[in-house]
Amino acid sequence: MKRLGLLTSGGDCAGLNAAIRAVVKRAVTGYGAEVIGILQGTRGLMERPVKARPLDLAIFTGDILRQGGTMLGTVNKGNPFSFPDGKGGQSDRSAEVLDGIRELGLDALIGIGGDGSMRILKRLAGQGNLPFVGIPKTIDNDVPGTEMCIGYHTAVATAVEALDRLQPTAASHQRVMVLEVMGRDAGHIALAAGIAGGADVILIPEIPYDPAAVTAKLATVAQEGRNHALVICAEAAKPVGGHIETRVDPGGTAHYGGAGQVVGGEIAKATGADVRVTVLGHVQRGGMPTSIDRLLASAFGVHAVDLAAAGRTGRMVGWQGGDTFDTALKDLPDGPRCVDLEGSQARTARGLGICLGDR
Ligand code: F6P
Repeated sequence: MKRLGLLTSGGDCAGLNAAIRAVVKRAVTGYGAEVIGILQGTRGLMERPVKARPLDLAIFTGDILRQGGTMLGTVNKGNPFSFPDGKGGQSDRSAEVLDGIRELGLDALIGIGGDGSMRILKRLAGQGNLPFVGIPKTIDNDVPGTEMCIGYHTAVATAVEALDRLQPTAASHQRVMVLEVMGRDAGHIALAAGIAGGADVILIPEIPYDPAAVTAKLATVAQEGRNHALVICAEAAKPVGGHIETRVDPGGTAHYGGAGQVVGGEIAKATGADVRVTVLGHVQRGGMPTSIDRLLASAFGVHAVDLAAAGRTGRMVGWQGGDTFDTALKDLPDGPRCVDLEGSQARTARGLGICLGDR
C-alpha cells in the first residue's frame, strides 16, 4: 500500500478530524504510505481536476484532534448513482467518481461515513473493483456492524448538557420542558441522553407514542410532588397512527423537525402545563469531540489502515465489547440499526419508570 485515499461522507460530526489524524499517522509512520485527502466526499471526485490534497504529519499542528467538523469537507446529498441533473431529473455519475479515483492512482480508499454513505461507497467499490475500508460515523449511531459510531457520544453529551440546563429553569418556572434531538431513523441519542439526563418521557422513532400515555406519566410526576418535568423526543418520533414531522425547503428537500412542537402542544392542551420546547439541532453535530469519540476515532483509524495494508479490504471497522473488529461489507445488513427494544437501555429506561410513549 503506497498511496491511500481518504474521504469523509454524509453529515459531519465530532471526531472526524481525530479519525483523519489517526489514519494519516498510522499510514505514514506505520507503513510509509502517502495519504491523499479527497475534498467534499464523492463530490470532490466528480470535479476535474479532482479536489484532493496530500495529508502528511506536518498538517497536524496539535489542535486537529480536538476540532469538530471535518477538515476534508463532506456532502450528505448528491448520491453519484442518482445525482441531480439540474433539470429536475437524475443521472448516474458513478463512472466519473471512479475515474476520479483512478486519476489519483490510489491503492486503497478509506471512507468515513454513515449508513447511507457506506451503502454508496460499498457499491462504488464493487463497481470499480476498488480496495475499500469503511469507518462508521454518525451522531444517529445507526450504522449496522458496530455498537458505536464516531460522533454519537459527543451528541449524547451535548443533549445531556441541554437537559442539565433545562432542569433548573423548568423547576424555577414549574414547566414541562420538551427537548427535540436528532435521530432520523433511530432513537439512540434520545434514549441514552434521556436516561443520563433524567428525562421523565423519552420518545423515539421505534415506538410510535400514545399522547395519553405521555400525559398520564406527567400526571404521575405531578402527583409525586415534582413541579416540573423533562421530555426528550427524537426528531422522527411520531404518534400512533400519525406521521413524522417534516418541513420542505425551497429546493424541495424534506428535513425532519417539528416533533417537539407537536408533543409540546399535545401536552399543553391535555394538561394545561406551561410547556417550552427546545430544538437542539446541529449543535449536536459540532463542537469538540468527547474523549470517547476521540478514542473511538483513533482506534477506528488505526484498525482501518491495518486492514488496508494487509489487503483485507471490502470491510468496515466496528466497535464491540470494548474493542475494534471488522466485518465484510457484504455481510452487513442494510441499515438503519435501530434501538433494541429489549436491550439494556430500553430496559433501563423502563426500569426507572421513564415513559417510552407506549404505556
Ligand atoms: O444523519 C445525521 C443527521 O444529523 C440526522 O440526525 C439529521 O436528521 C440530519 O443528519 C440532518 O441533516 P442536514 O445536515 O442535512 O440538516
